[in-house]
Amino acid sequence: MREIKFGVIGCGLMGREFASAAARWMHLLDMPAKPVIVGVSDVNSSAMEWFATHHPGITTTTNYQDLLADPNIEAIYCAVPHNLHEQIYVDCIRAGKHLFAEKPFGIDLPAAQNIVEAVNQTPRVIVRCSSEFPFFPAAQRIAQMVTDGAFGQIIELKAGFCHSSDLDPNKPINWKRRAETNGEYGCMGDLGLHVLHLPLRFGFHPKNVRALLSNIFSTRPNSAGNPENCDTWDNAILCCESAQGFPMILETKRISPGDTDSWYINIFGTENSAEFSTKHPKTLRLMPYQPGGKQAWQEEDLGYQTAYPTITGHIFEFGFSDAILQMWASFIDELSGNKPKFQCATPEEALASHHLFTAALESQRTGQTVTIA
Ligand SMILES: NC(=O)c1ccc[n+]([C@@H]2O[C@H](COP(=O)([O-])OP(=O)(O)OC[C@H]3O[C@@H](n4cnc5c(N)ncnc54)[C@H](O)[C@@H]3O)[C@@H](O)[C@H]2O)c1
Repeated sequence: MREIKFGVIGCGLMGREFASAAARWMHLLDMPAKPVIVGVSDVNSSAMEWFATHHPGITTTTNYQDLLADPNIEAIYCAVPHNLHEQIYVDCIRAGKHLFAEKPFGIDLPAAQNIVEAVNQTPRVIVRCSSEFPFFPAAQRIAQMVTDGAFGQIIELKAGFCHSSDLDPNKPINWKRRAETNGEYGCMGDLGLHVLHLPLRFGFHPKNVRALLSNIFSTRPNSAGNPENCDTWDNAILCCESAQGFPMILETKRISPGDTDSWYINIFGTENSAEFSTKHPKTLRLMPYQPGGKQAWQEEDLGYQTAYPTITGHIFEFGFSDAILQMWASFIDELSGNKPKFQCATPEEALASHHLFTAALESQRTGQTVTIA
């Protein structure tokens, strides 16, 4: 099997998720290629120790330019704080490396625009952005239903990504809770592309937005236990009108009591409705409807019915790390020259999410509905 040599920039939470997915590549069946991590970079040397332990002989460097200068490295996975996206992504692209980027794909709209400009100037390089939840089997089924026109006329779409651990006021501050490193978007930048990936893929672009943003805790303890300014939006509710005219209610929340990591999408239509939440990871709720007929929701447990086939039997459960593996299978399939079974989020989709978040900030400032550029 062809090996695609990768460098990883940023050896934190998500860098390790990729390494774990690459390490269990044999889980996937019939893949044309596999990723092999040959070098890692992090400004914090200790963050690279885990990689060095699990990949003896791997290159470790505190200067990511060393990975970009390595001709053996074909592709980069970059998972660093948002204020570094623009510089490092553009450097990767200009160095001719395929790039698997992280959301939000730049700290703000100008940064995202500059990254997309670099992508457009370097067409031989493939750039995609991380968004794993659409690879859950039920989300894939909903995507197929949209393709098949199974909903009839769409009445409304609701989608969201809700976390809850920030309900604890004693949770220490980190870079994701500071506007300087996370961005002014706050929870929208951190969680929003996850929510928008499917609607945008369906062509359901928001035309305008009325945003309600909340900063619930304005301070959080730092590592010394002293209160520090926490200047990012905790929660966002975005009421949008889609290009098709139906309402889309999108939410990204860091303080949604009881929601550990709940990603959901609900589509209501005249002929069918569907609801899926990772709270119930194998259950798809459907309500097919015919005029005059019963309105009765059905539940179907989907099991492990994935875009990319694996060794796991179809009756077993699917989870977060499986979604990560499926997302990577899609990227590697695309790097191998194939049309992926479900394409990872594109630079254009990431840029569209920035237009929405930027309009949402203006809506919050003015209290008005803002047209999206
Ligand atoms: N797809 C997802 O589900 C998901 C989940 C969490 C985070 N993310 C995204 O992944 C990215 C990273 O988040 P994380 O949770 O892994 O953060 P993290 O804080 O766990 O890791 C970031 C790492 O980047 C390193 N770093 C900082 N500056 C660097 C530089 N100049 N060169 C190399 N390394 C540098 C840090 O030392 C740290 O080890 C962000 O864009 C975030 O939004 C995605």
